[in-house]
Amino acid sequence: MRDELGGKVALVTGGGSGIGRAAAIRFGKAGAIVVVADLNAAAAELTVLEIIQAKGEAFALEVDVGNERQVAEMVATIARRHGRLDCAFNNAGVIEAFGTRLADATVEDWDRVMGVNLKGVWICMKHEIRQMLLQGAGSIVNTASAVGLRGSPGAAIYCASKHGVIGLTQSAALQYAKDGIRVNAVCPGVIRTAMVEEMSRTDPAYESSRSAFIPMGRFGAPDEIAQAVVWLSSGAASYANGLAMNIDGGWLAR
Ligand SMILES: NC(=O)c1ccc[n+]([C@@H]2O[C@H](COP(=O)([O-])OP(=O)(O)OC[C@H]3O[C@@H](n4cnc5c(N)ncnc54)[C@H](O)[C@@H]3O)[C@@H](O)[C@H]2O)c1
Repeated sequence: MRDELGGKVALVTGGGSGIGRAAAIRFGKAGAIVVVADLNAAAAELTVLEIIQAKGEAFALEVDVGNERQVAEMVATIARRHGRLDCAFNNAGVIEAFGTRLADATVEDWDRVMGVNLKGVWICMKHEIRQMLLQGAGSIVNTASAVGLRGSPGAAIYCASKHGVIGLTQSAALQYAKDGIRVNAVCPGVIRTAMVEEMSRTDPAYESSRSAFIPMGRFGAPDEIAQAVVWLSSGAASYANGLAMNIDGGWLAR
């Protein structure tokens, strides 16, 4: 297990909470040196502490993924400290207030959600790929969503941003396939994190109505996504490229 990514350098954005936190911990257990990047520096430090307590290696960076200067500096810092960036998990994301119908959303909602989920992923990919091209190798996993593959009754801007993430993923997979860089996306269903707890607060019936719709009858756990991310990032997935992998308790099989 520790050898799966032994000595590799792995970056996780949004690593201070939820799916990103679970993935950072999994990367640490797989032997990677983990860079936990988050807008919330204190949360990123807590994830780092947990990795170090489990005898892993990690450090935190405070980064806004929507800010190109900060992202460029983040990748430069990783390259300066470790000489390379092997795995990047572009996962930081936000959502508009759940249940906001398209005609009621504001331009501020659009700019905020697109600025993190789509522009942020693109900026991160741009700088990660430049470093990976220097190395002639690398693996990128982006967090899209099951609603990157279907419509969403509750959050149209978020849904559009996640469709965009799959477009970026598959385009980059095609463009860099011969450069030793694999690019994949995970498309989680409903995963029990702060983001989903917020939706349950907005709509108390959210969990029961959603669970009834999920063939497995329950929400997922962050670690059930994290394990797929580590697999996609590892040599075990050496022929996996351009995937939009839904992990959703069977939701999209309907
Ligand atoms: N929870 C779900 O059901 C679900 C389903 C599908 C997809 N996703 C996606 O998974 C990803 C993680 O979501 P989560 O549920 O773990 O949410 P979360 O709210 O628990 O964690 C998101 C993390 O991203 C960080 N972040 C937000 N904006 C940032 C920015 N500009 N720069 C850097 N970091 C930033 C936050 O500080 C937080 O630590 C998101 O992209 C989300 O859209 C979640």
